[in-house]
Amino acid sequence: MTRKPLIAGNWKMNKTTVEAASLSQDIAYNYHDSLDDADIVLCPPFIDLKTVNTVLTFDHSKIKLGAQDVYWEKPGPYTGAIAPNMLKEVGCSYCIVGHSERREFFGETDQDINRKIRALLEVGIRPIVCCGENLELREAGEALAFVVSQVKAALADIPAALAKTLALAYEPIWAIGTGRTATPEAAEEVCCALRACLAQRYGADVADQIRILYGGSLKAENAAHFSPQPNIDGGLIGGAALDARNFIDLAKAFV
Ligand code: 13P
Repeated sequence: MTRKPLIAGNWKMNKTTVEAASLSQDIAYNYHDSLDDADIVLCPPFIDLKTVNTVLTFDHSKIKLGAQDVYWEKPGPYTGAIAPNMLKEVGCSYCIVGHSERREFFGETDQDINRKIRALLEVGIRPIVCCGENLELREAGEALAFVVSQVKAALADIPAALAKTLALAYEPIWAIGTGRTATPEAAEEVCCALRACLAQRYGADVADQIRILYGGSLKAENAAHFSPQPNIDGGLIGGAALDARNFIDLAKAFV
């Protein structure tokens, strides 16, 4: 089946509100009609969400808004945290969950990630669920088993009807921000294994609807090597998402 490509820009901890307004305006301005066949998502820091939403709404842009994280509890005494309904109200339709930087620097566990996914699905926000091995696991030949186990844990107790709205993002840690991508074949091998895992869990029909992205040093210059891979349905972009022209050119490689 043909899946609609999904290209999401993860701005990470970059861009003040003024800079976010300028970058989102620039991206919206450079948006290309051919991208109507894809879902393009901007994921700025929490503090920039409202501004970016205002820019996109004002421009009647088809570009969608996503957050980089969420807390699973209902609103209440959780200092510093943001609840799913708050993201919904500010215009988010996507949210990245379980990025390796959150696992590494903020101690997120598979169980936390599962709670976040469930909380997002409850309010109708589509999670982009990240997974990926470090170099040690890759060199030990354990990448596939590790990544599949991360996804199984993330999706525990999530029914098929909800699972089909989420996306997975395979981001090998050693490829993030290093300028060294996985080879397209190696990335495809993992994404194919992830789809097989989804098929085993939810059946082929649901597995076919779930988009699986690759992330890790993707750029406009290398994206065309990944887009033809049958199980890679788009990209999760870090550094290259911070430049409007680069991001749009990269997205065009997937449509
Ligand atoms: P880079 O594109 O900068 O390697 O980052 C990838 C990433 O972590 C996106 O979530």
